[in-house]
Amino acid sequence: MEYVIEMNHITKQFGDFKANDDITLQVKKGEVHALLGENGAGKSTLMSVLFGLYQPEEGEIKINGKTVKINNPNDANELGIGMVHQHFKLVHNFTVLESIVLGRETVKMGVLKMEDARKKVMELSEKYKFKIDPDAYISDITVGMQQRVEILKMLYCDNDILIFDEPTAVLTPQEIQELMKVMKQLVAEGKSIIFITHKLNEIKEVADRCSVLRKGKYIGTINVADTTKEQMSEMMVGRKVNLNVEKTEMNPGDAVLEVRNLTIKSKASKKAAVKNVSFKVRKGEILCVAGIDGNGQSELVYGITGLMPLDSGQVILNGKDITKESIRQKCIDGMAHIPEDRHKDGLVLDYTLQENLVLQTYYTDRFQKHGFLKFDAIREYAKELIKKFDIRSSHGETSIARGMSGGNQQKAIIARELDRNPEIVIAVQPVRGLDVGAIEYIHKQLVAQRDAGKAVLLVSLELDEVMNLSDRIVVMYEGEIVADLNPKEITTEELGLYMAGAKRSVKNEQ
Ligand SMILES: Nc1ncnc2c1ncn2[C@@H]1O[C@H](COP(=O)(O)OP(=O)(O)OP(=O)(O)O)[C@@H](O)[C@H]1O
Ligand SMILES: [Mg+2]
Repeated sequence: MEYVIEMNHITKQFGDFKANDDITLQVKKGEVHALLGENGAGKSTLMSVLFGLYQPEEGEIKINGKTVKINNPNDANELGIGMVHQHFKLVHNFTVLESIVLGRETVKMGVLKMEDARKKVMELSEKYKFKIDPDAYISDITVGMQQRVEILKMLYCDNDILIFDEPTAVLTPQEIQELMKVMKQLVAEGKSIIFITHKLNEIKEVADRCSVLRKGKYIGTINVADTTKEQMSEMMVGRKVNLNVEKTEMNPGDAVLEVRNLTIKSKASKKAAVKNVSFKVRKGEILCVAGIDGNGQSELVYGITGLMPLDSGQVILNGKDITKESIRQKCIDGMAHIPEDRHKDGLVLDYTLQENLVLQTYYTDRFQKHGFLKFDAIREYAKELIKKFDIRSSHGETSIARGMSGGNQQKAIIARELDRNPEIVIAVQPVRGLDVGAIEYIHKQLVAQRDAGKAVLLVSLELDEVMNLSDRIVVMYEGEIVADLNPKEITTEELGLYMAGAKRSVKNEQ
């Protein structure tokens, strides 16, 4: 019995759209099996079939050689299959501990017994060095932490077939290294892992074999050790991809965005998450805020964009004080925001793609007359953006955002924000979850903004992206800017030292 999982000739349709078209996936026991494919290729759909969330129109699934019918996630759990979803399914007003044991509570004489659960959770957290706080609320912890909660939830149920749907998209480089170790540890314990990622380095590092999908179809399975990254990306996209950003010397002008002495309290602890931060982003410049996740970058962006109240400080856009302006006014003044959490702050998931594309402009004359929406105009505009940004979905502009693949949801947000021709784009992890072809495209778009004399404020956790894309780097550590650097004059290692707080070149009062 060679394979723990065999998915044979799986076809899954949404209406007449085939998200999976005759796909075969065979996973060996004790291997990390990567699943690679462009945004919308059908990876998450295939995993949802395996996890019992969708019923395929055709095909069969075998677990340990036995044909099974997986009607729902409970069936999947019974078979030892656990899944960490691409977009977490956590309840926001639950604590970490409650979230992990949800559905698996132990009850003694009608009373919830949390102490045993707590012990087991803490042991697991310790074993895999997750450092979770069991009593923190989900709404207050970082996305990286939420991910660990999802992983613990899966381990808590003693599953031995583990599906990781893009677990690293939301992690910091350090956390990714830790997760890789955890995955190696898990397969060494005899578990089998299906690992979805767009990052070829990660596949190289941890996966034994890799299956490639393209536009719903199965392309092939390769041995990772015998295949180069270039070969893998070509297999997946169907053409050669340039993995480096190309840009000319910058030519900065006046400040577009100026942030003065910003102080913001964190939601979780009432301590200041952003401490007296000041900086400028100039015309024709991509300024990157680098830092390890949780050092105040999220709050900084929420503060600037108006999603979180400021304690003190000012935000100036092209000379105008917009600190107290409404979000709509900030938008009209030329601020665009590609948020960190695409579901919470980027999209209305139950709206269609076309509605999402006009969220900030539906009330303008172009799309509205006498209080009625001009649906024809909205549709035409949506079609234009879909084409320009290659947003793939099952039903074009009328697709419901929730049903779109993660990467295509992200492309929709980027399309909407960039197409408004903003003065400043505030982009937080803009290529999170995008395939290599889409990353190439989005990076080009950000560089084009800068070349057109606009400003870009990029918040990124990824050193490669920071070093490749930015014209200037400020590093945030514990809520403060600790360095203001020229990427050409530093090494990745040095940048890492600033990010870790081991080095500092800017005083607080700059
Ligand atoms: N519930 C649904 N209703 C309609 N269409 C859907 C639904 N779920 C997925 N699709 C469509 O099926 C296709 C495959 O989506 P899927 O989420 O499997 O892609 P993916 O390979 O995981 O992409 P990504 O890398 O962006 O996460 C997409 O075009 C998507 O729009
Ligand atoms: Mg997906």
